[in-house]
Amino acid sequence: MSLEFASKVRRIPVYPAADAYALEGPVAMLASNESPYPPVPAVQEAVAKALGGLNRYPDPTNAALRRKLADRHGVPANRIAIGNGSCDVLLAAGEALLEPGAELVYAWPAFSVYPHLAAASGARALEVPLDAEHRHDLEAMRREITVATRLVIVCNPNNPTSTALPLGEIAAFIADVPRHVCVILDEAYVEFNMLQDPDDSLDLLKKHPNLVLLRTFSKIYGLCGLRVGYGLAGSEEFRIAVDQVRQPFFCNAAAQAAAVEALNHQDEVARRVERNLAERVGLEEGLRELGIEPADSQANFVWFDVGEGREEPEIVRGLAERGVLVRAGAALGREGALRVTVGTQAENERFLEALRALL
Ligand SMILES: Cc1ncc(COP(=O)(O)O)c(C=O)c1O
Repeated sequence: MSLEFASKVRRIPVYPAADAYALEGPVAMLASNESPYPPVPAVQEAVAKALGGLNRYPDPTNAALRRKLADRHGVPANRIAIGNGSCDVLLAAGEALLEPGAELVYAWPAFSVYPHLAAASGARALEVPLDAEHRHDLEAMRREITVATRLVIVCNPNNPTSTALPLGEIAAFIADVPRHVCVILDEAYVEFNMLQDPDDSLDLLKKHPNLVLLRTFSKIYGLCGLRVGYGLAGSEEFRIAVDQVRQPFFCNAAAQAAAVEALNHQDEVARRVERNLAERVGLEEGLRELGIEPADSQANFVWFDVGEGREEPEIVRGLAERGVLVRAGAALGREGALRVTVGTQAENERFLEALRALL
């Protein structure tokens, strides 16, 4: 006998997990936009300290972390939603805002979890193609907003294409979105974006109660193994709604402790941004030497078409055989493209060498 599941289970896309976690030997993990650098020792110590208290549930109000984020960003703590990764806040937003008859607008290709929101809720997704430079086409997105729209997502810098739009263009777009429509500006990679300072978008929250800035400790802080992210909202009602639809203890104690400590190390954040930039430029130059023009990256990864007559799955397989894991574009919304995370210098060189051999 087989179980009878809700119809949404047939609709929800399976998350395209990176392959080959089981590979033997040293592998260059360039498939998931992770940081190649481990958390700083003080963060590791904070986690070790938290382990001694694991007989207790974590603080369900995330008070210490919200206070710290409130001080750092100048956003009241009651407008900060913490999550088990920023994905958790995103999915909760979908649950709180969407239902059959409602609409959701986002660009495509963008973060592979966005289609999940409509599939899980029964809402209708309007996926707006990126422009020729792999960037959001905000004008086309604006045209898709109707009376049924409840949520608009803008991913800046965009995953998987690595591109970013100037904040001024996004600000003008948000100003044009009706007040009852929630806008999530997904800024998972904001620290890497050289077009703006990460603090620049905070001002938008003062003008737009319907705006949420989605941020994460998974990327620049190197804490994706613990899962912690947050949303900075223009009004308290967003935080109340996303907390309401989730289980009470959505952020574990070690993650809360790590995130609080990680915020004390902004000097390390600056060093990582610099290192990423230098390594990314090297990676881009290496690709150009192979005749490949990557998209204009403002993130910790690059995106490029493998070129006519070349088979992307074969290249991904060939790279994996050489111990280099990257992400196939087909799984992310565009066949023939590859997404490669910026790793350490040694990992990037290994990738370029393997790619050279394959081409
Ligand atoms: C654009 C974007 N948003 C959100 C996330 C979710 O990150 P996390 O749940 O680890 O905070 C990711 C992860 O890769 C991402 O690329």
